[in-house]
Amino acid sequence: MSAAVSQPDVTPAISVKNLSMRFGGFQAVQNLSFDVGHGEIFGFIGPNGAGKTTTIRVLSTMLEPTAGTVEVCGKDTTYDPEEVRRLIGYMPDHAGVYERITVGEFLQFFAAAVGVPKHVVAGVIELTDIGPLRDRMVTSLSKGQKQRVQLARVLLHDPKVLILDEPASDLDPRARIEMRDLLVDLAKNGKTVFLSSHILTELAEVCTQVAILERGRLVACGPVDAIGRSMRNETHKDTARLRILPGAHDERATDIVRATAGVHDVTPVQKGFLSFAYQGGDETIAAVVSALVAGGVGVVGVEPERSELEQVFLSVTAGEQQ
Ligand SMILES: Nc1ncnc2c1ncn2[C@@H]1O[C@H](COP(=O)(O)OP(=O)(O)O)[C@@H](O)[C@H]1O
Ligand SMILES: [Mg+2]
Repeated sequence: MSAAVSQPDVTPAISVKNLSMRFGGFQAVQNLSFDVGHGEIFGFIGPNGAGKTTTIRVLSTMLEPTAGTVEVCGKDTTYDPEEVRRLIGYMPDHAGVYERITVGEFLQFFAAAVGVPKHVVAGVIELTDIGPLRDRMVTSLSKGQKQRVQLARVLLHDPKVLILDEPASDLDPRARIEMRDLLVDLAKNGKTVFLSSHILTELAEVCTQVAILERGRLVACGPVDAIGRSMRNETHKDTARLRILPGAHDERATDIVRATAGVHDVTPVQKGFLSFAYQGGDETIAAVVSALVAGGVGVVGVEPERSELEQVFLSVTAGEQQ
């Protein structure tokens, strides 16, 4: 046997195998399997009631699975819960905060509770950029500020893996952008981030991988663009919105777009705007633009109507809503 040189860490940050969760007669999560690699920002996405929180509660050792296993950095959540709790920073949805104290006191309290020295508090305050809030009462903070304080709290024991249940829900657009930037910073600092969301576009841009959950089952998993591609190879249709020069004839433009191969369902939206469904990806868009220009119709712009992730989500969950 050769001496062990430093081996690359091939154990996933999170490994879920055949996870099922039943509450009485109700199957909340069914036979879920996926891995999350180190350093990923992994989006766990699905409509309300899909089973996201239930899965997250198993990941964070709050619930024991009915069947299957979950490992965090190779440690089993059922057999090694204390080890797993050291490895993770878990932020529940709607986490309450102790309101009648300052942000600094709140974090000192939890630092003492998890047994980390005081200077660590300064470090997480800097990392989450809440220095100016240190002497503010927790009760006076906005929702976005409270979320950052919660995130600072779960970072105190320097966890490898962050498990965040709906960290951006109810945030205003600015706070959501700040949360997104913070998650990217944390991933750059070597953390793995696992987050859930019922709103697709909320944090989509920063997710390196997504898993889409629908009524307790995994319906798609992987990098967003790869899921998008596999959908498009089937019967997936994209939608685009076209804006033409004022003065061009809408009827003429409609006829030209409709006659282009790969285009379906052309709808004039308002004067100068057309919406159309198409297959064949960007090549079809290019063909539409060429045909219009050749036909003397000036094109001002053409844009996909939905974000890629939104299209993927709509495709994979089509017809499964109750
Ligand atoms: N402790 C429980 N007892 C019974 N049913 C539950 C329990 N926890 C969750 N459920 C049910 O499981 C389903 C999934 O819930 P949840 O995991 O909270 O979904 P999500 O977080 O995706 O909105 C829901 O139908 C919910 O009512
Ligand atoms: Mg939930």
